[in-house]
Amino acid sequence: MSSSKNILNPIIDSLYDVCKTSLKAFYNLMNIETYFDIINFFKQVEFKNKKSMYPKLIKIYESPKGYTYLLSCPFGLSINDFIKVKDALEIQLKNKITIKERKGYIEIEVITKKISNKIEYKVPKRNYNLGYIEIPIAESLDGTVYLNLKENPNTLISGTTGSGKSVCSKSILTSLVNMYSPSELELYLIDFKIVELAMFRNLKHTKAYVNNVDDAKELIADLMIECDKRYKEFFKYDVANIYDYNKIPGINKMNFKILFIEEFIGMLEDKRKVGMTILKKFASLCRACGMYLFCSMQRADHTVIDLVLRANLNNRIIFRVEDEANSKLVLDSTGAEKLNGNGHALIKMNGKIVESQAYFIKDSQVKEYIKKYVVNKSYKDIKQANVKYLNNTKPADKVLNLNKDSKQQEYILDDLSFLDNI
Ligand SMILES: Nc1ncnc2c1ncn2[C@@H]1O[C@H](COP(=O)(O)OP(=O)(O)O)[C@@H](O)[C@H]1O
Ligand SMILES: [Mg+2]
Repeated sequence: MSSSKNILNPIIDSLYDVCKTSLKAFYNLMNIETYFDIINFFKQVEFKNKKSMYPKLIKIYESPKGYTYLLSCPFGLSINDFIKVKDALEIQLKNKITIKERKGYIEIEVITKKISNKIEYKVPKRNYNLGYIEIPIAESLDGTVYLNLKENPNTLISGTTGSGKSVCSKSILTSLVNMYSPSELELYLIDFKIVELAMFRNLKHTKAYVNNVDDAKELIADLMIECDKRYKEFFKYDVANIYDYNKIPGINKMNFKILFIEEFIGMLEDKRKVGMTILKKFASLCRACGMYLFCSMQRADHTVIDLVLRANLNNRIIFRVEDEANSKLVLDSTGAEKLNGNGHALIKMNGKIVESQAYFIKDSQVKEYIKKYVVNKSYKDIKQANVKYLNNTKPADKVLNLNKDSKQQEYILDDLSFLDNI
């Protein structure tokens, strides 16, 4: 009896294999999805409880990011046990997975969907019920990714050259200008790349557009003085922030002010680090007073940015970086070195990292969307507006109590009149 079983076994096995292969071929032909045999996986790795019970497959269903296995959880095992085999399972499934517990069952979602590699920018619709700034910046498999400046006021945009930083800066500025009126929001632009943000220099919203470190320094100091003034005002009315202040009946509402620094490395030309020192203070205080900072840079290591300042830039929009070390600097984890470039990003907010695709906007579209806010400011006018930093008041010296006689700075405004033709 037992010998006949032995003879038949290989035949049955091979018959089974033939059936399985032809069933698979049939499924492929009919375009029916075949799923990886996850229970077989658990058997192979002996994933069982002390009574040799394995997880049971309840069902497989389509889910937002791909498909999900719903499994029973044998007595004594927990989600942490499942997480221990996550890496091994991902190799077999050839996809990333997420493991969650739901009402005593285990859900393993296999992420097969990919984010599109180009998502066209659209002017966002504003939710007028919000008393704070919130703008969409990218799409992820979980939906739209928003920057909420009330939650996290300051933003770091980083990535190697050509990875998508400037396109992202332009999409953010275009949204801000279209969603908030010039009386609600002012822009202060420091553009060390000179041409990247030049399109925005003539807008009603734009109160300053500077491209050299001396002007930048004074502009930052000016905003710091404004920040101090706002705190004094809060103190007077016994409120803690702009949101409560603006609710005071009959009060002259404070507006939002955005300081945007494109290619932050330009700040290093300031050898005395005056700008950096003020920025450090500004970034830690500005949250309450409706003033927000954006800094874009290729690398965010200590040779480029003060570490205290970096720690205060809580929203992280990270495009492809050179290597793992650069990824760790800005995300506390690797991964950004594997991004595809072209606006593919890891966005970290409130401790959570989300793979995203930033919106794509062409320069011609930026110009189209912002043209109704353009006023006729010539380069001379902008230069004139910056001249206040050149006389004796020197906000930077005032803010840092620098000795006026020490090492007089030379203020040179380069001739950038060619910007008028851009
Ligand atoms: N969000 C995006 N989607 C698709 N392509 C993009 C996106 N952002 C950038 N790119 C592509 O990458 C190029 C370089 O982008 P850019 O923002 O100028 O890089 P960086 O400022 O990081 O040097 C763009 O000209 C465009 O072709
Ligand atoms: Mg750039």
